[in-house]
Amino acid sequence: MAAVEQYRSEAYGRVARLLHWLVVVLIAAQFVVGWTMPDVHRDTQPVGLIAWHLAIGTALIVAMALRIVWRLTHRPPPGELPPLLDFASRATHFLLYAALVAVPLLGWANASSRGWASTLSGALPLPPIAATGSSVAHAMGDVHGVLAWVLFALIAMHIGAALFHRFVRKDKVLERMTW
Ligand code: HEM
Ligand code: HEM
Repeated sequence: MAAVEQYRSEAYGRVARLLHWLVVVLIAAQFVVGWTMPDVHRDTQPVGLIAWHLAIGTALIVAMALRIVWRLTHRPPPGELPPLLDFASRATHFLLYAALVAVPLLGWANASSRGWASTLSGALPLPPIAATGSSVAHAMGDVHGVLAWVLFALIAMHIGAALFHRFVRKDKVLERMTW
């Protein structure tokens, strides 16, 4: 019993774990849709897979906003990593958060410049964050696509690190984020 309590006290809280895995599912779907949807041109309509990209994107923006508020008000449990690994993990997590904010924001700006509503099938309608026709926000569409690759690389590193902890170091880091 004492061992279970000690293990639980090292894990992230229930809400932090729930939000982590919710964002993982949404991001996985968003990459699949982003890379399979038709190319977006001037006359493209936001239907089909593109409508899905906007809907999942809207859910992601809301989930990330909640997650950041939660993170800022709830400190993660202290870890026991050597200084170099501790630094690498903090730096990667910070960059993950930065990319998880920048990529959706740039997509949202691009959608706004096209006059497209970002909404979850009519629910959670987000306001436009750029004027329709804005050339800067329009150009952000390309940056969005490039930064999505940066986010992908960070996620690959992050999953590699989780596997390294589980199978090479054989420590309890992975269990901090699981049930
Ligand atoms: C982390 C979340 C997101 C990922 C990983 C992602 C990924 C992608 C990818 C891979 C593309 C195709 C880029 C290309 O082929 O050049 C794309 C395009 C696009 N995404 Fe996202 N996206 C995300 C969030 C969003 C959000 C939140 C919105 C809007 C609410 C959005 C709106 C768009 C639009 C409008 C395009 C077309 C851009 C253009 O071609 O000018 N995305 N996204
Ligand atoms: C199979 C996939 C994944 C596994 C096994 C996993 C595992 C973990 C673990 C164990 C932690 C806690 C590390 C610690 O002890 O501090 C963590 C944190 C984190 N993960 Fe993941 N993760 C996965 C996918 C992802 C994805 C796809 C993203 C990005 C969308 C992501 C973003 C984050 C972030 C930002 C943190 C830092 C949390 C915080 O300190 O607030 N993870 N992950």
